[in-house]
Amino acid sequence: MISFIWAQDIDGVIGRDGKIPWHIPVDMKYFKNTTMGHPLVSGKRTFDSYKRVLPGRENIVLTTQINDLSDEVTKVTSLTKLLELMSKNPDKEYFISGGAQVFKQLLPYVDKLYKTTIHGHFAGDTFMPVIDYSQFKLVSSHNVIADDYNSYACTFEIFERQK
Ligand SMILES: NC(=O)c1ccc[n+]([C@@H]2O[C@H](COP(=O)([O-])OP(=O)(O)OC[C@H]3O[C@@H](n4cnc5c(N)ncnc54)[C@H](OP(=O)(O)O)[C@@H]3O)[C@@H](O)[C@H]2O)c1
Repeated sequence: MISFIWAQDIDGVIGRDGKIPWHIPVDMKYFKNTTMGHPLVSGKRTFDSYKRVLPGRENIVLTTQINDLSDEVTKVTSLTKLLELMSKNPDKEYFISGGAQVFKQLLPYVDKLYKTTIHGHFAGDTFMPVIDYSQFKLVSSHNVIADDYNSYACTFEIFERQK
């Protein structure tokens, strides 16, 4: 199974200057809890933004520059090779963690969406590709209000592709 996990603002912003433009601990915790134990696929720019290999998960990085990466990472050099790898393990849930370039290429194949909406407007240079939600069914939704630690309210939604 192929799943996307991401956080976007109200306008679809997901990144700025190679980073995420907000700091929302409740979403970081959600990302960690949801992806823990599962393979995590990221583009090289997103992987670089983590600054380290994320523990407890197989870190799979899409890049043409394999020499730049640590041996702890599974390097994949093309979309075709990534699709082959994932199709060999149909019982696993592959979490695609972005960025925009990677989401865009995998959009035709994604089965499940873990979407966080941050209820704010941020300046950004990277946007989530447009998703046709009519092809998906909302299966879960919950809201978290802003507080002293999380400066914006968030909505956590899960969608599954309609068969
Ligand atoms: N808000 C969120 O949830 C979220 C999630 C993820 C990322 N982000 C943000 O999004 C931004 C990064 O996104 P991005 O779209 O610029 O970059 P990206 O998708 O993370 O990485 C792009 C890089 O991945 C590699 N790549 C992509 N497709 C490939 C393919 N088919 N074959 C081989 N390599 C491939 C290439 O690396 P090489 O140049 O090494 O070949 C390419 O330069 C950052 O600001 C990040 O913080 C936000």
